[in-house]
Amino acid sequence: MNILLLGGGGREHALAWKMAQSPLCDKLYAAPGNPGVAAHAELVSLDLTDHAAVIAFCEAHRIGLVVIGPEAPLVDGLADSLRGAGFSVFGPSRAAAQIEGSKGFTKDLCQRAGIPTAAYVRAGSLAEARAALGGFSIPVVIKADGLAAGKGVVIAETLAQAEAALDDMFGGQFGSAGTEVVIEEFLTGEEASFFALTDGSTIVPFGSAQDHKRVGDGDTGPNTGGMGAYSPARVLTPLLEAEAIEKIVAPTVRAMADAGMAYSGVLYAGLMLTADGPSLIEYNARFGDPECQVLMMRLESDLVELLSACADNRLSAIEPPRFSPDPALTVVMAAQGYPGTPKQGGRIDGIGLAEAHGARVFHAGTSLDGNGKLSASGGRVLNVTARGATVRAARDAAYAAVAAIDFAEGFCRNDIGYREIEREDAAGSDRV
Ligand code: AMP
Ligand code: GLY
Repeated sequence: MNILLLGGGGREHALAWKMAQSPLCDKLYAAPGNPGVAAHAELVSLDLTDHAAVIAFCEAHRIGLVVIGPEAPLVDGLADSLRGAGFSVFGPSRAAAQIEGSKGFTKDLCQRAGIPTAAYVRAGSLAEARAALGGFSIPVVIKADGLAAGKGVVIAETLAQAEAALDDMFGGQFGSAGTEVVIEEFLTGEEASFFALTDGSTIVPFGSAQDHKRVGDGDTGPNTGGMGAYSPARVLTPLLEAEAIEKIVAPTVRAMADAGMAYSGVLYAGLMLTADGPSLIEYNARFGDPECQVLMMRLESDLVELLSACADNRLSAIEPPRFSPDPALTVVMAAQGYPGTPKQGGRIDGIGLAEAHGARVFHAGTSLDGNGKLSASGGRVLNVTARGATVRAARDAAYAAVAAIDFAEGFCRNDIGYREIEREDAAGSDRV
C-alpha cells in the first residue's frame, strides 16, 4: 500500500525508517519530512491545516494509510477529515485527542472512571485559581490546560511562585492554552512512559521508556522536549505494567468509548510510580519524541501491519508486537541555545561514520543547503540511537557515535541513562 506520514522530526524519521522496511509498504510519502526521512520516503509539501489539500493528495496518490506523527494536526481534527473522506488513519479523532489537548478534560475523565491521578482543581479565571491554591500544600503543580509544547507545567516550590505562575498563564504566556488552568497535588516517585496501541476496544501494550526532560547533566536546568531516552523502563516491572493497564489504560479506553469518542491510535501514558502504585501524570495522543526512536530501535514486528490494523479496528486479529529484549538508548544532539532560541545553520558532518558501527542517527531538526551540506535547523537536531545487551552497552555505543559526529555548534547531555546504569551496576555487584 501507499502510505503518507505526517510530521518532520526525529519521531517521524524513526517511523519512516521502520515503515520503509515493511513488505506491506509500496510507496512512502512524507510531509514535510526532513533530510533523514528523505532516505526512506518521497518528501511532499502539504499544508496540514488545509484538510482538503491533504485529502486531495491522498486521492491522487491512492494512499492506503495516513500516519499522523505530531499532536497539533490531531487536536485540529485532521484524522476526522481524512476518515470522513474514506481513508485509513493512524491517530485519534479531534474529540479523542482532547486527552492530550486539554489537561482538564483528562483529569475529569480520570475522576469519573476512578483512575489514579493527582488530586486537582480546574480554574477558568485568575480569581478562581488563586482561591483554589489554598486547598493545596507546597510544592503544588500548575498546568496550562491546552497544548503548550511541553512548557505549560510549573512545579511551584513556594506560594509566591505558584501565584506568579498563575499570573503568567492568565496573563497570556501560553495564549489560549492558558485561559484555563489545572492546579494539582505534587506526586513523588519515579516517572516512566508506557505506550499502548488501541483501536478503541483492543489494547496492545507497545513498550515503555524513560526520558530526560531537563537540559543539563544530572537533571538540571530548564525543561525541554526531551534530551534523551531509553527503553524499556525497567522500573515499570511486569507487575506494575499490568497494574497500569488494569487501573489506568483499560478504564480510559472504556470511558472514552462510553463517551462516544472511542480512542484509536497510540496512547502514551506518562506515569508516576508512587508508593501507592502507578498514577497518571498525563496522556499524549501520539508517540513520544524521542521515546519513539528507542521503541523503533527495539521493534521486531512489522510496524505497517500494526499501525494499519490499529487504524482499521483489526488489532485483535493480529500477532502482538515483538520487541528485542536488548535495551535501546538515544542521545539528543541539540543546537546551542536550546531550549531557548537555538542557533541555526550549524554544519553537521560525520553521520555516515557514526552509523558505521550499528548506531542510527535520526534527524530531528536538519536541512540541506544549496550545496547538499547538512546543517541544523531546529532546537533538537539529531537523535543518536543504539542498542546493546545492557543499557550501559547501548549508552557506550550511542556516545561513540556522538563522538564521530562533527557538529561544533551542538551539544548533548553526557549522562543519558544514568539512573538505569546505576541500577545495572548495583544488580551486577549483588551477583558477585
Ligand atoms: P506534563 O507536561 O503533564 O507531563 O508535566 C511535565 C512534567 O512535570 C512531568 O514529566 C513531571 O515531571 C512533572 N509533573 C507533572 N505533574 C506532576 C505532579 N502532579 N506531581 C509531580 N510532578 C509532576
Ligand atoms: N518526550 C516527551 C514527549 O514526547 O512528550
